[in-house]
Parts: sequence; C-alpha cells; structure tokens
Amino acid sequence: MNYRHHFHAGNYADVFKHVLLLQLIRAMQAKEKGFLFLDTHAGRGGYDLTETSLLPDGREREPEFPAGIGRVWGEANASALPGGGPGQPPGGPQSATVPALADYLALVRRFNDRRGHTGDALHFYPGSPWLAKLAARAQDRLVLCELRPDDAEALDFDFAREARVRVQAMDGYTGLRAHLPPPEKRALVLIDPPFESQAEFAQILKSLGESLRRFPSGVFAVWYPITERTRVDDFFDGLLALRPPPALFAELRVAGDATPVRMKGCGLLVINPPWKIDGAIRAVLPELVRPLRIDAGASARCAWLVPEA
Ligand SMILES: C[S@@+](CC[C@H](N)C(=O)[O-])C[C@H]1O[C@@H](n2cnc3c(N)ncnc32)[C@H](O)[C@@H]1O
Repeated sequence: MNYRHHFHAGNYADVFKHVLLLQLIRAMQAKEKGFLFLDTHAGRGGYDLTETSLLPDGREREPEFPAGIGRVWGEANASALPGGGPGQPPGGPQSATVPALADYLALVRRFNDRRGHTGDALHFYPGSPWLAKLAARAQDRLVLCELRPDDAEALDFDFAREARVRVQAMDGYTGLRAHLPPPEKRALVLIDPPFESQAEFAQILKSLGESLRRFPSGVFAVWYPITERTRVDDFFDGLLALRPPPALFAELRVAGDATPVRMKGCGLLVINPPWKIDGAIRAVLPELVRPLRIDAGASARCAWLVPEA
C-alpha cells in the first residue's frame, strides 16, 4: 500500500467530498434518533497542511491543498464584510453565502482552532473522521476503519478518549461485514478507498451487494475518481445490476478533457439518499465549481441513477 492521504489532504476532491458528507450527516440528523457513521477508509483523521514531504528524487512534493481548501477558504475570507460581528473574526466561514458551505467552513475553522491555530491562517485540515466527530450529536456513533498501521495509530491517538468513537485497524470492507446492520438500525457509510488497484470498483460492488442484502435501508456514500469516463459508467452498470434502492450521484469536474490533469474530477454516489438531499447538493455545487475550477471545462451535476419511486 503506497497511498498516503496526507499528500492529498485538502485538495479539491477532499473539499467536494467533505462538503457533501457534511450535508449527508446533517440530513441524517433531521431525525432525533442517533445513527452510526461508518468510515470504511478513514485516513489519519486530521492533517497538518504545513508538513512537507519529499518525492523519491528528493525534490519537495507540491502540496495539493492550495488548489482545494486554500481557494475556498481564501474566497470566503476575501468576501467577508469588514467588522465580522461580535465574537466573529473578520472574514472566515461566516461569509460563505450557501449554508452548507458555511457549515463546512465553520467546522474546518473549529478543527484548525482546536489544534491551536486560531485566526484566519489555515494550518490544519480535518479528514472525514474529524469532520464527522465535530458534527456528531451525543446520540450519534462513529466507527473508523483504517488499514495503514501508522494512520490507524494516529486515529487511535486522536479518538481513544472520545466517547462513542471506535477505531478499527482493519480492512474497511471487512468492517462493513462486522458493523452492519447496526443496533441503531440507521447508518451513514462512507466508502472512500484510494483506488490504487484496478480492482477497487469491483471490490466496492461486491461489498455493496453484500451490505445491501444485510442492511437494505443503509445510506451508502461512495467516492470515486473521474479519470476515464468508461470506468465510471461500468461501475454504474455494475451497480444497476444489483437492483439497488434509489441512488443519486454528484460529480465535480475541475478541468475539461484537453487539460493535462489525470484526475479531471470526482464524484459521490449516494444509495438511499436522505429526503431532498438532491436539492441541497444542487445548491452548493456552483459554489464549489467557481473556486475549484482549473479551466473553462469545469462543471458539476447531480442526477438520479435509480430514481425514487
Ligand atoms: C482516500 S483516503 C481516506 C480519506 C478519508 N476518508 C477522508 O476523507 O479524510 C483512503 C485511505 O484508505 C486507507 N486504506 C487503503 N486500503 C484500505 C482498506 N482495504 N481498508 C481500510 N483502509 C484502507 C489508506 O491508507 C488511506 O488512508
């Protein structure tokens, strides 16, 4: 396993995924009853954006966050009304016009503050575990699976003393089998693998098939890269063959086909999406395309793959 999420933390794909994840969490919280958030590929929990790393040839690796959270954070700060308001720093998340984006930026700021960096400079970025933990209510529960021993250890360090959070140093697909169906009978599952292997889409389909058989009402969110469209289309065909419950997908493209960027976009497939989440996602997507675009080919969409009855 060569993949280390640290290199990619806070990039455009993280921003897209985390804004939508938070929308899903908030939609789950529309009901009082608690739920399980199961993160099958959790990463380390949070990331120090100032930590540099080297390429195999000894050069410094170019960080990806400036073209991701760096732009969204910068835009929110720049468009702030001077003065802020009592207790609010001038600029910052309050200036985001779409509530979902403001909610996300407020949690990013809270995480940065928690790590000791109050103010407008962003040093620390929350991964999906910390984002979910900061959003969780007392009745919600988290299970975080991570296979890399060093990242699982970092997760354990952060969460060992947190109530209602369990860290599992294990394969996330095995985690699905171990934790579904949950006693709460409500779950939001994030499947966010590294896609290092050509077989990842096939593995996801196999696990989704099993998971839906055991827990048909679960909300499953699957992140995927858009490198070749046909791979995504084949994945969707494979999913349709499972005869799944209602499913929608949202996609963000930051660059057109002619741009020499390998990953031109990414998507999130949501099975059993919470009520009216499509409208909420459609409202926030333009706010992501604008700051995250690389060229004129940037766009976003949200559509049903399996419509609601
Ligand atoms: C894209 S990153 C996760 C990012 C995280 N979900 C977030 O949004 O902050 C994928 C993670 O999966 C881990 N991983 C790879 N294979 C795994 C497996 N079979 N089970 C669990 N984790 C795995 C990697 O070490 C990496 O930390």
